[in-house]
Amino acid sequence: MIETKRLTLRQWKESDKVPNFQMNSNPEVMKFFPKALSREESDLLADRMRAKIDQNGFGFYAVEEKESGLFVGTIGLNCPEYTTHFTPCTEIGWRLDNKFWKRGYATEGAEAVLNYAFDELKLDEVVSFTSKLNIPSMSVMERIGMLRVEGGDFEHPNVEKGHPLSWHVLYLIQSS
Ligand SMILES: CC(C)(COP(=O)(O)OP(=O)(O)OC[C@H]1O[C@@H](n2cnc3c(N)ncnc32)[C@H](O)[C@@H]1OP(=O)(O)O)[C@@H](O)C(=O)NCCC(=O)NCCS
Repeated sequence: MIETKRLTLRQWKESDKVPNFQMNSNPEVMKFFPKALSREESDLLADRMRAKIDQNGFGFYAVEEKESGLFVGTIGLNCPEYTTHFTPCTEIGWRLDNKFWKRGYATEGAEAVLNYAFDELKLDEVVSFTSKLNIPSMSVMERIGMLRVEGGDFEHPNVEKGHPLSWHVLYLIQSS
C-alpha cells in the first residue's frame, strides 16, 4: 500500500502472525511497554490492526523488507480510542523487530507514512508519543521533523499510574 526504497507497508497477512509474535514477545523490543505479549495477545493485535485498515483505509501496516520479503514490524497511523488532553488525534507509531534496528528502516517508513497522512489523507497534524525513557523512538520522531510539545507530557491512560513507564512525551508535526 505504501512503498519506500527498501520497504513495503501493506495489509496484514496470516503468515505475519508468527514473526509478529516473535517481535512482541521479545523483552528487548518490549522494554518500554509494561509487558511483552502472549501469542494470543499478539494475534489479537494483528487482527485489530488488519480490521482498522479495512475500516479506515489506513492504520498500522505490516512492514516487509523488499529485498528478503521478511516481516520487519509495524509502522503506521492510528486514532486512539482513549481520552487524553490531545485526543481526538491521529498518531504515527512504529515497532520493529530488533533484527532490523539501526538500518534507518523506522525513519524511512515513518517519512512515507507522514507524506501519505498529509498528501493523501489531507490531515492538518499528526502526533506521536512514547514513554519518557524511550530515546530511540524520540529520535525517530525528531528525524522525521516532529517537535516535542512543551507542557504536553501526560500519563498514559492504559498504563498503571506510578508505573515507571506511565509518563509519556508528546510530539507534533503540522502540514506545511
Ligand atoms: C523505536 C525503533 C523503531 C527505533 O529503531 P532504530 O533502528 O533506532 O531507528 P531507525 O530504523 O530509524 O534507524 C536509525 C539508526 O540507524 C542508523 N542507520 C544505519 N544505516 C542507516 C541507513 N542506511 N539509513 C539511515 N539510518 C541508518 C542511523 O544512524 C540510526 O542510528 P543512531 O540512532 O545510532 O544514530 C526501535 O527501537 C523499536 O522498534 N523499538 C521497540 C518498539 C518501540 O519502542 N516503539 C515505539 C513505541 S512508541
